[in-house]
Amino acid sequence: MNTEIQKAIKLLDNDDLVVIPTETVYGLAANAYSEKAIEKIFKTKNRPANNPLIVHIGRIEDLSKVCKNIPKRALQLATHFWPGPLTILFEKADHLSPKITAGKTTVAVRIPNHPTTLTLLNHLKYPLVAPSANRSNHISPTSPEHVTSSLGTETPFILDGGFCSRGIESTIVGFDGNTVKIYRLGAIEKEEIERVLGCDVVISNNTSEVTVAPGMSAKHYAPKTAFITTQNIEKEIEKYSNKKIGLMCFSSKHLNTNAVIVKQLTLEEDMKQAAANLYKIMHELDQLNLDLIIAELMPNIGIGISINDRLIRASSY
Ligand code: TXA
Ligand code: MG
Repeated sequence: MNTEIQKAIKLLDNDDLVVIPTETVYGLAANAYSEKAIEKIFKTKNRPANNPLIVHIGRIEDLSKVCKNIPKRALQLATHFWPGPLTILFEKADHLSPKITAGKTTVAVRIPNHPTTLTLLNHLKYPLVAPSANRSNHISPTSPEHVTSSLGTETPFILDGGFCSRGIESTIVGFDGNTVKIYRLGAIEKEEIERVLGCDVVISNNTSEVTVAPGMSAKHYAPKTAFITTQNIEKEIEKYSNKKIGLMCFSSKHLNTNAVIVKQLTLEEDMKQAAANLYKIMHELDQLNLDLIIAELMPNIGIGISINDRLIRASSY
Protein backbone atom coordinates (compact mmCIF):
# COMPACT_ATOMS: atom_id res chain seq x y z
CA MET A 1 0.00 0.00 0.00
CA ASN A 2 1.47 3.41 -0.92
CA THR A 3 1.73 6.40 1.38
CA GLU A 4 -1.10 8.23 -0.39
CA ILE A 5 -3.52 5.42 0.47
CA GLN A 6 -2.20 5.33 4.03
CA LYS A 7 -2.89 9.06 4.33
CA ALA A 8 -6.42 8.55 2.97
CA ILE A 9 -7.09 5.84 5.56
CA LYS A 10 -5.96 8.12 8.40
CA LEU A 11 -8.22 10.94 7.22
CA LEU A 12 -11.23 8.66 6.76
CA ASP A 13 -10.67 7.03 10.18
CA ASN A 14 -10.79 10.56 11.56
CA ASP A 15 -14.25 11.28 9.99
CA ASP A 16 -12.70 13.46 7.29
CA LEU A 17 -13.51 13.37 3.59
CA VAL A 18 -11.23 12.06 0.82
CA VAL A 19 -11.68 12.35 -2.95
CA ILE A 20 -11.39 8.90 -4.52
CA PRO A 21 -10.90 7.85 -8.14
CA THR A 22 -13.33 5.42 -9.74
CA GLU A 23 -13.75 4.18 -13.28
CA THR A 24 -16.85 6.40 -13.70
CA VAL A 25 -16.27 9.77 -12.01
CA TYR A 26 -14.34 10.96 -8.93
CA GLY A 27 -16.20 10.43 -5.64
CA LEU A 28 -16.31 12.47 -2.44
CA ALA A 29 -15.87 9.68 0.12
CA ALA A 30 -16.65 9.33 3.82
CA ASN A 31 -16.96 6.57 6.41
CA ALA A 32 -20.48 5.18 5.90
CA TYR A 33 -20.74 4.38 9.61
CA SER A 34 -19.97 7.93 10.77
CA GLU A 35 -22.87 10.38 10.99
CA LYS A 36 -20.40 13.22 11.34
CA ALA A 37 -18.55 12.29 8.15
CA ILE A 38 -21.82 11.82 6.22
CA GLU A 39 -22.96 15.29 7.24
CA LYS A 40 -19.71 16.74 5.90
CA ILE A 41 -20.50 15.31 2.47
CA PHE A 42 -23.90 17.00 2.26
CA LYS A 43 -22.41 20.27 3.47
CA THR A 44 -19.42 20.28 1.12
CA LYS A 45 -21.50 19.39 -1.94
CA ASN A 46 -24.38 21.64 -0.93
CA ARG A 47 -26.52 18.59 -1.56
CA PRO A 48 -30.18 18.45 -0.50
CA ALA A 49 -30.70 15.96 2.36
CA ASN A 50 -33.38 14.14 0.34
CA ASN A 51 -30.90 12.93 -2.28
CA PRO A 52 -29.46 9.58 -1.09
CA LEU A 53 -25.83 8.45 -1.37
CA ILE A 54 -24.26 5.38 -2.98
CA VAL A 55 -22.38 3.00 -0.65
CA HIS A 56 -19.08 1.65 -2.01
CA ILE A 57 -17.74 -1.70 -0.81
CA GLY A 58 -14.55 -3.63 -1.66
CA ARG A 59 -15.88 -7.19 -1.93
CA ILE A 60 -19.24 -8.92 -2.40
CA GLU A 61 -19.04 -10.46 1.11
CA ASP A 62 -19.30 -6.90 2.49
CA LEU A 63 -22.87 -6.62 1.16
CA SER A 64 -24.15 -8.07 4.44
CA LYS A 65 -22.69 -5.00 6.20
CA VAL A 66 -25.10 -2.65 4.45
CA CYS A 67 -28.17 -4.57 3.29
CA LYS A 68 -30.41 -7.58 3.97
CA ASN A 69 -32.66 -10.08 2.12
CA ILE A 70 -30.50 -10.03 -1.01
CA PRO A 71 -32.55 -11.17 -4.03
CA LYS A 72 -31.05 -13.92 -6.20
CA ARG A 73 -31.16 -11.75 -9.32
CA ALA A 74 -29.37 -8.91 -7.56
CA LEU A 75 -26.59 -11.29 -6.59
CA GLN A 76 -26.44 -12.51 -10.18
CA LEU A 77 -25.90 -8.92 -11.37
CA ALA A 78 -23.35 -8.19 -8.65
CA THR A 79 -21.35 -11.31 -9.48
CA HIS A 80 -21.33 -10.47 -13.17
CA PHE A 81 -20.70 -6.73 -13.13
CA TRP A 82 -18.63 -6.04 -9.98
CA PRO A 83 -16.18 -4.49 -9.69
CA GLY A 84 -17.78 -2.19 -12.24
CA PRO A 85 -20.14 0.68 -13.05
CA LEU A 86 -23.41 -0.92 -11.93
CA THR A 87 -25.13 0.30 -8.76
CA ILE A 88 -27.76 -2.03 -7.32
CA LEU A 89 -30.60 -1.11 -4.94
CA PHE A 90 -31.03 -3.47 -1.98
CA GLU A 91 -33.16 -3.57 1.16
CA LYS A 92 -31.27 -1.40 3.64
CA ALA A 93 -29.66 -2.94 6.75
CA ASP A 94 -31.33 -1.66 9.94
CA HIS A 95 -28.13 -0.21 11.39
CA LEU A 96 -27.35 1.92 8.33
CA SER A 97 -27.87 5.65 8.84
CA PRO A 98 -31.11 6.98 7.27
CA LYS A 99 -29.03 10.00 6.24
CA ILE A 100 -27.37 7.78 3.60
CA THR A 101 -30.66 6.59 2.14
CA ALA A 102 -32.59 9.83 2.69
CA GLY A 103 -35.08 7.86 4.76
CA LYS A 104 -35.73 5.30 2.01
CA THR A 105 -35.93 1.56 2.71
CA THR A 106 -33.45 0.83 -0.08
CA VAL A 107 -29.72 1.41 -0.22
CA ALA A 108 -27.67 1.86 -3.40
CA VAL A 109 -24.42 -0.18 -3.47
CA ARG A 110 -21.54 -0.84 -5.84
CA ILE A 111 -17.94 -2.08 -6.02
CA PRO A 112 -16.03 0.47 -8.10
CA ASN A 113 -13.41 -0.77 -10.55
CA HIS A 114 -10.31 1.26 -9.81
CA PRO A 115 -7.17 -0.38 -8.36
CA THR A 116 -6.35 2.46 -5.94
CA THR A 117 -9.87 2.67 -4.54
CA LEU A 118 -10.21 -1.12 -4.32
CA THR A 119 -7.00 -1.28 -2.27
CA LEU A 120 -8.30 1.52 -0.08
CA LEU A 121 -11.73 -0.10 0.46
CA ASN A 122 -10.20 -3.46 1.30
CA HIS A 123 -8.04 -1.92 4.03
CA LEU A 124 -10.87 -0.06 5.75
CA LYS A 125 -13.08 -1.39 8.53
CA TYR A 126 -16.13 0.31 7.06
CA PRO A 127 -17.75 0.94 3.65
CA LEU A 128 -17.54 4.37 2.01
CA VAL A 129 -20.39 6.59 0.94
CA ALA A 130 -19.35 8.56 -2.13
CA PRO A 131 -21.38 10.88 -4.33
CA SER A 132 -19.65 12.47 -7.31
CA ALA A 133 -17.01 14.97 -6.11
CA ASN A 134 -18.63 18.13 -7.47
CA ARG A 135 -21.00 20.67 -5.99
CA SER A 136 -24.66 19.78 -6.54
CA ASN A 137 -25.77 20.43 -10.11
CA HIS A 138 -22.23 21.05 -11.38
CA ILE A 139 -20.69 18.85 -14.08
CA SER A 140 -19.32 15.57 -12.68
CA PRO A 141 -15.51 15.36 -12.36
CA THR A 142 -13.44 12.91 -14.39
CA SER A 143 -10.05 14.28 -13.31
CA PRO A 144 -8.56 15.76 -10.09
CA GLU A 145 -8.53 19.22 -11.76
CA HIS A 146 -12.30 19.03 -12.31
CA VAL A 147 -12.77 18.31 -8.60
CA THR A 148 -10.70 21.31 -7.54
CA SER A 149 -12.45 23.61 -9.95
CA SER A 150 -15.86 22.67 -8.50
CA LEU A 151 -15.06 22.32 -4.76
CA GLY A 152 -12.46 25.11 -4.62
CA THR A 153 -10.95 25.74 -1.19
CA GLU A 154 -13.18 23.06 0.30
CA THR A 155 -11.48 20.33 -1.75
CA PRO A 156 -10.30 17.61 0.62
CA PHE A 157 -7.25 15.38 0.06
CA ILE A 158 -7.41 13.85 -3.44
CA LEU A 159 -6.20 10.33 -4.19
CA ASP A 160 -5.02 10.87 -7.75
CA GLY A 161 -6.04 7.97 -9.95
CA GLY A 162 -5.70 9.69 -13.31
CA PHE A 163 -8.45 10.25 -15.82
CA CYS A 164 -11.64 8.18 -15.25
CA SER A 165 -11.78 5.48 -17.92
CA ARG A 166 -15.57 5.22 -18.29
CA GLY A 167 -16.33 8.90 -17.70
CA ILE A 168 -20.07 8.61 -17.05
CA GLU A 169 -21.77 7.62 -13.79
CA SER A 170 -22.80 4.07 -12.92
CA THR A 171 -26.14 2.69 -14.09
CA ILE A 172 -28.56 2.28 -11.17
CA VAL A 173 -30.76 -0.82 -11.23
CA GLY A 174 -33.41 -1.97 -8.75
CA PHE A 175 -36.24 -4.44 -8.26
CA ASP A 176 -39.86 -3.37 -8.11
CA GLY A 177 -41.76 -6.58 -7.35
CA ASN A 178 -40.93 -8.82 -10.29
CA THR A 179 -39.88 -5.93 -12.50
CA VAL A 180 -36.24 -4.99 -12.98
CA LYS A 181 -35.92 -1.23 -13.39
CA ILE A 182 -33.18 1.16 -14.37
CA TYR A 183 -33.38 4.27 -12.17
CA ARG A 184 -30.41 6.05 -13.71
CA LEU A 185 -28.97 5.44 -17.15
CA GLY A 186 -25.20 5.11 -17.04
CA ALA A 187 -22.07 3.26 -18.08
CA ILE A 188 -23.73 -0.19 -18.29
CA GLU A 189 -26.23 -0.60 -21.13
CA LYS A 190 -29.75 -1.89 -20.51
CA GLU A 191 -29.15 -4.73 -22.97
CA GLU A 192 -26.15 -5.97 -20.99
CA ILE A 193 -28.33 -6.32 -17.87
CA GLU A 194 -31.07 -8.06 -19.87
CA ARG A 195 -28.53 -10.51 -21.26
CA VAL A 196 -27.29 -11.46 -17.79
CA LEU A 197 -30.76 -11.81 -16.23
CA GLY A 198 -32.48 -13.27 -19.30
CA CYS A 199 -35.47 -10.95 -18.87
CA ASP A 200 -36.66 -7.52 -19.95
CA VAL A 201 -35.55 -4.46 -18.02
CA VAL A 202 -37.60 -1.27 -18.01
CA ILE A 203 -36.27 2.25 -17.80
CA SER A 204 -38.14 4.03 -15.06
CA ASN A 205 -39.46 7.25 -16.53
CA ASN A 206 -39.13 8.75 -13.10
CA THR A 207 -35.39 8.27 -12.91
CA SER A 208 -33.96 8.59 -9.41
CA GLU A 209 -32.20 11.83 -10.30
CA VAL A 210 -35.57 13.50 -10.39
CA THR A 211 -37.88 11.66 -8.02
CA VAL A 212 -35.65 11.22 -4.99
CA ALA A 213 -34.95 14.90 -4.94
CA PRO A 214 -38.37 16.52 -4.99
CA GLY A 215 -38.35 20.12 -6.06
CA MET A 216 -35.26 19.63 -8.16
CA SER A 217 -35.82 19.76 -11.87
CA ALA A 218 -34.45 17.29 -14.38
CA LYS A 219 -31.73 19.85 -15.03
CA HIS A 220 -28.43 18.52 -13.78
CA TYR A 221 -24.73 18.28 -14.62
CA ALA A 222 -25.09 21.76 -16.04
CA PRO A 223 -22.25 23.89 -17.40
CA LYS A 224 -22.30 27.61 -16.57
CA THR A 225 -22.41 28.46 -20.28
CA ALA A 226 -25.78 28.31 -22.06
CA PHE A 227 -26.06 24.79 -23.48
CA ILE A 228 -28.39 23.33 -26.08
CA THR A 229 -28.69 19.90 -27.71
CA THR A 230 -29.68 19.23 -31.29
CA GLN A 231 -29.78 16.70 -34.07
CA ASN A 232 -29.30 19.45 -36.63
CA ILE A 233 -26.15 21.42 -35.93
CA GLU A 234 -26.19 23.51 -39.12
CA LYS A 235 -29.67 24.82 -38.37
CA GLU A 236 -28.75 25.84 -34.81
CA ILE A 237 -25.51 27.52 -35.89
CA GLU A 238 -27.41 29.56 -38.43
CA LYS A 239 -29.99 30.54 -35.83
CA TYR A 240 -27.30 31.80 -33.43
CA SER A 241 -24.88 33.19 -36.01
CA ASN A 242 -24.32 36.37 -33.92
CA LYS A 243 -23.05 34.35 -30.94
CA LYS A 244 -19.68 32.92 -29.90
CA ILE A 245 -20.44 29.24 -30.30
CA GLY A 246 -18.61 26.13 -29.09
CA LEU A 247 -19.56 22.87 -30.73
CA MET A 248 -19.54 19.46 -29.10
CA CYS A 249 -20.08 16.82 -31.74
CA PHE A 250 -20.02 13.11 -32.34
CA SER A 251 -19.43 12.96 -36.08
CA SER A 252 -16.70 14.71 -38.03
CA LYS A 253 -18.91 16.32 -40.66
CA HIS A 254 -19.21 19.51 -38.60
CA LEU A 255 -15.49 20.30 -38.36
CA ASN A 256 -15.69 23.14 -40.91
CA THR A 257 -18.33 25.37 -39.37
CA ASN A 258 -17.98 28.94 -38.21
CA ALA A 259 -18.12 27.94 -34.56
CA VAL A 260 -15.28 29.41 -32.46
CA ILE A 261 -14.22 25.95 -31.43
CA VAL A 262 -15.25 22.43 -32.35
CA LYS A 263 -14.63 19.46 -30.04
CA GLN A 264 -15.26 15.95 -31.21
CA LEU A 265 -16.19 13.40 -28.54
CA THR A 266 -14.57 10.59 -30.46
CA LEU A 267 -12.51 10.31 -33.62
CA GLU A 268 -13.67 6.80 -34.47
CA GLU A 269 -17.40 7.17 -33.75
CA ASP A 270 -16.75 4.93 -30.74
CA MET A 271 -19.55 5.44 -28.19
CA LYS A 272 -17.50 4.25 -25.21
CA GLN A 273 -14.81 6.77 -26.05
CA ALA A 274 -17.49 9.46 -26.44
CA ALA A 275 -18.76 8.65 -22.91
CA ALA A 276 -15.22 8.80 -21.50
CA ASN A 277 -14.68 12.27 -23.04
CA LEU A 278 -18.13 13.71 -22.34
CA TYR A 279 -17.56 15.61 -19.06
CA LYS A 280 -13.94 16.43 -19.95
CA ILE A 281 -15.06 18.28 -23.08
CA MET A 282 -18.01 19.87 -21.29
CA HIS A 283 -15.55 21.22 -18.68
CA GLU A 284 -13.15 22.45 -21.38
CA LEU A 285 -15.81 24.30 -23.36
CA ASP A 286 -17.26 25.75 -20.17
CA GLN A 287 -13.90 27.46 -19.40
CA LEU A 288 -13.81 29.39 -22.71
CA ASN A 289 -16.30 32.20 -22.03
CA LEU A 290 -18.46 31.23 -24.97
CA ASP A 291 -22.00 32.54 -25.45
CA LEU A 292 -23.38 29.14 -26.27
CA ILE A 293 -22.42 25.46 -26.41
CA ILE A 294 -24.25 23.40 -29.01
CA ALA A 295 -24.10 19.64 -28.45
CA GLU A 296 -24.94 17.10 -31.11
CA LEU A 297 -27.13 14.26 -29.80
CA MET A 298 -25.64 10.75 -30.20
CA PRO A 299 -27.28 7.90 -32.06
CA ASN A 300 -29.90 6.73 -29.53
CA ILE A 301 -28.56 3.20 -29.04
CA GLY A 302 -26.50 1.48 -26.33
CA ILE A 303 -24.39 3.87 -24.28
CA GLY A 304 -25.54 6.66 -26.63
CA ILE A 305 -28.84 6.63 -24.72
CA SER A 306 -26.97 7.40 -21.46
CA ILE A 307 -24.89 10.12 -23.12
CA ASN A 308 -28.03 11.74 -24.55
CA ASP A 309 -29.64 11.62 -21.10
CA ARG A 310 -26.70 13.64 -19.70
CA LEU A 311 -26.69 16.08 -22.64
CA ILE A 312 -30.39 16.77 -22.23
CA ARG A 313 -30.04 17.26 -18.45
CA ALA A 314 -27.19 19.69 -19.10
CA SER A 315 -29.24 21.82 -21.46
CA SER A 316 -30.36 25.23 -20.39
CA TYR A 317 -33.74 25.29 -22.06
O1 TXA B 1 -20.65 6.28 -10.79
C1 TXA B 1 -21.17 6.61 -9.73
O2 TXA B 1 -22.22 6.09 -9.31
C2 TXA B 1 -20.47 7.71 -8.91
C3 TXA B 1 -19.16 7.16 -8.35
C4 TXA B 1 -18.47 8.13 -7.43
O3 TXA B 1 -19.39 5.93 -7.73
N1 TXA B 1 -21.33 8.17 -7.86
C5 TXA B 1 -22.42 8.95 -8.09
O4 TXA B 1 -23.04 9.40 -6.95
O5 TXA B 1 -22.80 9.23 -9.21
P1 TXA B 1 -24.11 10.60 -6.95
O6 TXA B 1 -24.40 10.84 -5.52
O7 TXA B 1 -23.59 11.72 -7.73
O8 TXA B 1 -25.36 9.98 -7.61
C6 TXA B 1 -26.04 8.97 -6.91
C7 TXA B 1 -27.42 8.80 -7.46
C8 TXA B 1 -28.32 9.95 -7.12
O9 TXA B 1 -29.07 10.29 -8.26
C9 TXA B 1 -29.24 9.35 -6.05
O10 TXA B 1 -30.50 9.95 -6.10
C10 TXA B 1 -29.29 7.89 -6.45
O11 TXA B 1 -27.96 7.62 -6.85
N2 TXA B 1 -29.61 7.01 -5.32
C11 TXA B 1 -28.87 6.77 -4.22
N3 TXA B 1 -29.51 5.94 -3.40
C12 TXA B 1 -30.68 5.64 -3.97
C13 TXA B 1 -31.80 4.84 -3.61
N4 TXA B 1 -31.85 4.18 -2.46
N5 TXA B 1 -32.84 4.76 -4.48
C14 TXA B 1 -32.81 5.42 -5.65
N6 TXA B 1 -31.79 6.21 -6.05
C15 TXA B 1 -30.74 6.32 -5.23
MG1 MG C 1 -23.59 13.32 -8.96
